Amino acid sequence: MTRLTERPVWQALSAHYQEISPRHMRDLFAEDPQRFDRFSLRFNNILLDYSKNIVTQQTRQLLLKLAEECKLADWIAAMFRGDRINHTEQRAVLHVALRNLSDQPMRADGQDVMPEVRSELQKMEALSEAVRSQTWRGATGQPIRDVVNIGIGGSDLGPEMVTEALRPYGSRDIAMHFVSNVDEHAIQDTLQKLDPATTLFIIASKTFTTQETMLNAAFARDWFLQTINDESALAKHFVAVTSNIPLGEKFGIDPRNIFAMWDWVGGRYSLWSAIGLSIAIYIGMDNFRAMLQGAHEMDQHFRTAPFGQNLPVILGLLGIWYNNYFGAQAYAILPYEQNLHRLPAYLQQADMESNGKCVDRDGNKVDYTTGPIIFGELGNPAQHAFYQLLHQGTKLIPADILAPIRDFHSVRKHHRALMSNVFAQTEALMKGKTRQEAQQELSTADLDAQQQQLLLPYKVFEGNKPTNTILFDTLDPGTLGSLLAMYEHKIFVQGVIWNINSFDQWGVELGKQLASHIFGELQDDDPVADHDCSTNGLINYYKTRRKILRRP
Ligand code: F6P
Repeated sequence: MTRLTERPVWQALSAHYQEISPRHMRDLFAEDPQRFDRFSLRFNNILLDYSKNIVTQQTRQLLLKLAEECKLADWIAAMFRGDRINHTEQRAVLHVALRNLSDQPMRADGQDVMPEVRSELQKMEALSEAVRSQTWRGATGQPIRDVVNIGIGGSDLGPEMVTEALRPYGSRDIAMHFVSNVDEHAIQDTLQKLDPATTLFIIASKTFTTQETMLNAAFARDWFLQTINDESALAKHFVAVTSNIPLGEKFGIDPRNIFAMWDWVGGRYSLWSAIGLSIAIYIGMDNFRAMLQGAHEMDQHFRTAPFGQNLPVILGLLGIWYNNYFGAQAYAILPYEQNLHRLPAYLQQADMESNGKCVDRDGNKVDYTTGPIIFGELGNPAQHAFYQLLHQGTKLIPADILAPIRDFHSVRKHHRALMSNVFAQTEALMKGKTRQEAQQELSTADLDAQQQQLLLPYKVFEGNKPTNTILFDTLDPGTLGSLLAMYEHKIFVQGVIWNINSFDQWGVELGKQLASHIFGELQDDDPVADHDCSTNGLINYYKTRRKILRRP
């Protein structure tokens, strides 16, 4: 297979980059009054404006050709067909089946997975409705008031992000809690506010072996049994979601309350499965299905829309453009929607665990850069924190700015202020402020000529900083589903171009292996000598200090 950087289109893009990189978006806009129409896309109630990028029609053409030459269409077909595109684990990648609300079959290893998917959805519906309607009663006959999801990574970030995002749709009678960190404070702080008699725990772990989750789950069970000293009561207060059913049963969970997961669902793509049980309990199954529907519609769009009008494809290609030609190392996710405050953290896992790879599908070390550093925050507060670097720093950081047209709050002035910041920031990042404009501005200020000269270089903004603006009517379950599926597919598009497997995560294994060995070494106070001198030194310092601090 031709290596990526040897492809003629790759080289054509390199040559094109030389031509276009000195150009300023101000000029691109000045040359083409139709630029907004030419470089924006609509999907349902979502608008993607990507006109504020350093691209021309030729750039788009070349990027689309790149997608074609990398056989993106074949890869998309292979994913939907259930081929084992996760080749290092020999697994199909079928999270799209979890939201396949059509009556079409979807197959993994020739087997239609839809009957199992539907049956788990029904099981989720039964449990979530029972909890919501208070027909599910705890061991003392009281309804459930608090749900604690114990999981980490994909078994935590997705459910937590969605329950936060859809708060306006959430139950007022049930509070949701998420515990992932193995720092004892996380579980202690959560449990101290709760009453075991009215608490339901969801132990969410695909493998049911993850250290953090298992320790927190065991802690929660002990806490529960300290008050309700009856093992048979666990059935009313502990449910599990896992593909490792025997381990769930061994933990003591009633097999009827264990929800299945499959090896063709990656952890970071799993919120659509029973890993989303906490979401279903909180927002109800109708809303959960609406979210699946929104994702399914995006799946259909991704699968069928021509690449030039395909949101995930365009977003993926733009990312490649900055990452591989402009040398951009980072990518910012900036939601102007309070309830999306966990989106950057969620996308950090989705993107960085998927595309943080340096070996291609043929086993070769890549000679180009892959996944960017994803970071982000709520846009408005971030303006007063790190936007300085976006505007005037030395790094090019492309960003996605997401905002709802209609919010749920009654304070219209707030929303207008919020949106004015959305438009102002994208304009400022694009246009910047020229030396001449800065000079003009300074001349009207109450400053002498020397002060004006001193300030001038600091007042100049280069601009030409790329953003995608993603506007949607309102953050309802369907729209959220579409947006999340859009990002999942964008990540896949980039994985295909980079010829990497976006669906394994071997890079997290080494730390887990070492931690499990060191966990054993921390049982006593004996010094260790089997590591490098830094690690030995740190462990031994910790053990010595721990001993001193332990003394009364
Ligand atoms: O360590 C990484 C990881 O395997 C993620 O991919 C996954 O989402 C997370 O850990 C949790 O895994 P599990 O659901 O098996 O507990």
